[in-house]
Amino acid sequence: MDFTEAKSHDLVPHKGFNLISGIHDPDEVDQIYNSEIRDSDVFVITYPKSGTIWMQQILRLLEAKGDIQATKDELNSVQVPWIELIGNGKAFVTAPSPRLRVAHLQYHFMPLALSQKKGKVIYVARNPKDVLVSYFHFHKVATMLETPKDFNDFFEKFMKGGVYGNCWFDHIKTWYSHKDDMNILFITYEEMIQDLQSVVERISLFLDKDLTDEQLANVVKHSTFRNMKKIPQANYELVPEDLLDHHKGSFMRKGTIGDWKNHFTVAQNERFDQVFQKEMKDFPLSFIWDINDIV
Ligand code: A3P
Repeated sequence: MDFTEAKSHDLVPHKGFNLISGIHDPDEVDQIYNSEIRDSDVFVITYPKSGTIWMQQILRLLEAKGDIQATKDELNSVQVPWIELIGNGKAFVTAPSPRLRVAHLQYHFMPLALSQKKGKVIYVARNPKDVLVSYFHFHKVATMLETPKDFNDFFEKFMKGGVYGNCWFDHIKTWYSHKDDMNILFITYEEMIQDLQSVVERISLFLDKDLTDEQLANVVKHSTFRNMKKIPQANYELVPEDLLDHHKGSFMRKGTIGDWKNHFTVAQNERFDQVFQKEMKDFPLSFIWDINDIV
């Protein structure tokens, strides 16, 4: 299927990556590659459900030096938008600095200038079993994504890469393989759960921010799960019902490590582990799979 035949919200492959009809425009996505990049540009790259909206909140708070009131004038999704959504690629070109953006796109769509060490990239990775579970639930909430028949149906789709974001293994490995070309910081969702303060400090340093200890502490305070759940500008409860069916769940669901244990069967887990070991055997970063493994 191509975009001319697609119905609204169909998943349509474009240059080896699924886009969502009506949400993404392939021509506009293609233009991102040639965008000029400013030194102050920051891109957060994630596979879906890896902590994107968490990073949106952290970036906004760092920009506002921890002042939560200053972030309440506008939604995080507007201030730190997804570059690949219709209209956002075009708007990026003339947007004022600093241009803070999030993206789920694969490496080959992103501005070429990033690989000339212009701008900065933060890649957030999350253990893929929890990603799968979070994504399963999100497919029920997001009206632009097909509701899975059941968990097994979604498990199979995810393993085949038949979702927006495609194959989790390809996403992380491709981005990681280009780490030396870019100004890039790799962090994991699990590190953020384990020690948010030190991750926020690393991000602040990476972005050359100059915040006092008290300001940094405020960034941390207003980006905890408990607090973000109460901040409509950050937690997506203000996203219109035609995109998210808020009766079916929320973006801020559990916010923990290891919920996969409540969903995977023994057989699914064994199969997942086999694929993980094969795909990730040469990958140097490790993941935390259980909240009890946090020291
Ligand atoms: P769960 O569904 O497992 O709860 P994304 O923003 O990439 O779509 O990721 C959403 C996931 O990040 C959800 O995971 C959500 O709860 C979690 N999340 C968002 N903000 C968080 C926070 N402040 N602390 C912990 N998890 C958070």
